[in-house]
Amino acid sequence: MGGAAIKKCRSFTTRRDRISAVFAPHMPLYYLDDEVHTEDIKRANVSWKIIMDGKNTSQFMIARESPIFFHTSILTWFFDTFYEKMFEICPETRSYFSGVSMATQGKLVAGVISSALGMLRDPIRLRKKLTAMTEKHNGKGIKSVYYGYMGTALFYALKHVLGSEFDDHTARSWVKIFSFLLSIIIPVVVNYETNNSRKNQSAATVAPSFASHIKYFALNMKCPLHKSPQTSDYHHVIDTEVNE
Ligand code: HEM
Repeated sequence: MGGAAIKKCRSFTTRRDRISAVFAPHMPLYYLDDEVHTEDIKRANVSWKIIMDGKNTSQFMIARESPIFFHTSILTWFFDTFYEKMFEICPETRSYFSGVSMATQGKLVAGVISSALGMLRDPIRLRKKLTAMTEKHNGKGIKSVYYGYMGTALFYALKHVLGSEFDDHTARSWVKIFSFLLSIIIPVVVNYETNNSRKNQSAATVAPSFASHIKYFALNMKCPLHKSPQTSDYHHVIDTEVNE
């Protein structure tokens, strides 16, 4: 039994090491190539369950004291915070959701995250599911960089609603897990964008790397993620945004 567990951990590491060199320029600043361990999965599940079960955290009770706070559950507070942050750090993503109910959308994304957390010990099934989801998104024109921004919004929203229950270890586990998801998602998007651009023989459709996207936003938009592009420290990324 112990042997089987070790074998699964190894397969995580091997695959991630292999892809990182080719797709590294498309990964966000917080991206970690670290192995995902059982404790990471446990920590992420505990924190995720608090939100999905709609438990009233001390953070939620404090926020509720405010007369302008209108959320009736931690769940809606989480979804709203998540999408607000996503649209703030990458405003162009907003246009993809015109006419879409964000409450329904939030539940769909949460459903995939829940099942991804459940499938982390079965990377083959997880890869299949995430690849199918990403291919659907490719058809909608969702760019590779958006997934990186989505991670930033996710970490921000988790910290915002969980407060002290989202401690440093839990934060690091989430970053490792989301990085692992990105290691599956990003190659699917980048390959699609690259093939598309070859077919159309047009540079305009080539996937922008994270670095070039950051440069664009740093010049044109107010974007907290890009205050310190030289750091890959996930803490910095999360804390800078939360303390704003
Ligand atoms: C891990 C990341 C993501 C997950 C788990 C996820 C999950 C989902 C799911 C389950 C759906 C509905 C069913 C489907 O079409 O497959 C969906 C639709 C959609 N997603 Fe994502 N998504 C992710 C990333 C993104 C990103 C980065 C964007 C960029 C802006 C995005 C934009 C959309 C849009 C526009 C739709 C269609 C909404 C509609 O027309 O109803 N998604 N997503």
